[in-house]
Amino acid sequence: MKIKKAVIPAAGFGTRMLPATKTVPKEMLPLLDKPVIQYIIEEAVAAGIEDILIITNRAKSAMDDYFDYHPELEERLYRDGKLKEREAIRHAADMANIFYVRQKETRGLGHAIWRAKDFIGQDPFAVLLGDDIMRAEVPVTKQLIDAAEKYNASCVGTQKVADDAVGRYSSLQISPLEKTVYKVTDMNEKPTPEEKFSNFAILGRYVLTPGIFDILENTPPGKGGEIQLTDGLRTLCQREPVVAKEFAGRRYDTGNLCGFLEATLELALDHPETKDFMQSYLRQNRLEG
Ligand code: UTP
Repeated sequence: MKIKKAVIPAAGFGTRMLPATKTVPKEMLPLLDKPVIQYIIEEAVAAGIEDILIITNRAKSAMDDYFDYHPELEERLYRDGKLKEREAIRHAADMANIFYVRQKETRGLGHAIWRAKDFIGQDPFAVLLGDDIMRAEVPVTKQLIDAAEKYNASCVGTQKVADDAVGRYSSLQISPLEKTVYKVTDMNEKPTPEEKFSNFAILGRYVLTPGIFDILENTPPGKGGEIQLTDGLRTLCQREPVVAKEFAGRRYDTGNLCGFLEATLELALDHPETKDFMQSYLRQNRLEG
C-alpha cells in the first residue's frame, strides 16, 4: 500500500470565525507569515504525499491563487533584491501537485470527501482537514500511513479528549492491537455522554481506502442534516479493517478563535523572527512564556 495522494476538504462555511471568514477562507487566515492551509500541505509533503486535491467552493478562489505563480510580483522582488521573499512565494507554489474540485453545495464533510472519488481512483489516500494543524516530530499523516500500511487497513488519527469535549468529536469503540494502535469496531458523531463509546476522538487526519466512496454515495444526512464522514466510516469498519493511531503530537483547531490563538502563540514562541520578542513581551506583561 503506497500512499501518494491526499485530499484536503476546505469547503466549509467557517461560521465559527465570522465575520473574518465572510470573504476570506478560514484556510487562508495567516498563522504568522503563512496561511493555515500551507502548514497542512507541508505536513502532507513531509509524509511523502505528491498529489493533493483541495475541495473548495465558489468563495474560496484565494486558495488557488495562493498556490499559483505570480510572475509580476516575483519580477519586482527580484529587481528589489528581495530574494528570500521571492523564494518563499515560489516554494508555496512548487511544494506539491495541487488540484481542485468544487463542492457545489455545502452538504457536509462526507459529501466533500465523496467529491474526490474520480481523483483518487483505486489508491488509498490521506485526508487532512483544512483547519486542523498538527505539530509533531514525525508528521502525523506519516504516523497514520505507517499504521495503515502495517495493518493493510484504513486508519483514523486519534487522541483522548476530556469528558466535556467528547461531544464535539467522533467517539471511537476500539480494542488494542499494540501500544498506540487500536482496532476500530464502531464510532459515533458528536455523541451525548450516554452515547459515547470512549474518550478517544477522531482528530483531523485519516487514511482511507477507496471503499469509502460507494458508502458515502449511499450515506443519508446525519447529525446537523449533513452527510457525515463518521457515518460512512462506521459502515467501512463493518466491511473492511479500520485501525486508529493514537498519534504523537499536538493538534490545533484553527477553525475556532481559541484554537487559532493557541496555534498563533505557540508558533510565535518558536519562530526565529518572533520568539525573542514574544518571550520578552510575555515576561514584561507577567504572563508565562
Ligand atoms: P468543520 O465543521 O470544522 O468546518 O468541518 P466548517 O463547517 O467550516 O465549520 P463551522 O462550524 O462553520 O465554523 C471540518 C472540515 O470539513 C470541511 C471544512 O472545510 C473543514 O475542513 N467541510 C465541511 C467541507 O469541505 N464541506 C462541508 O460541507 C463541510
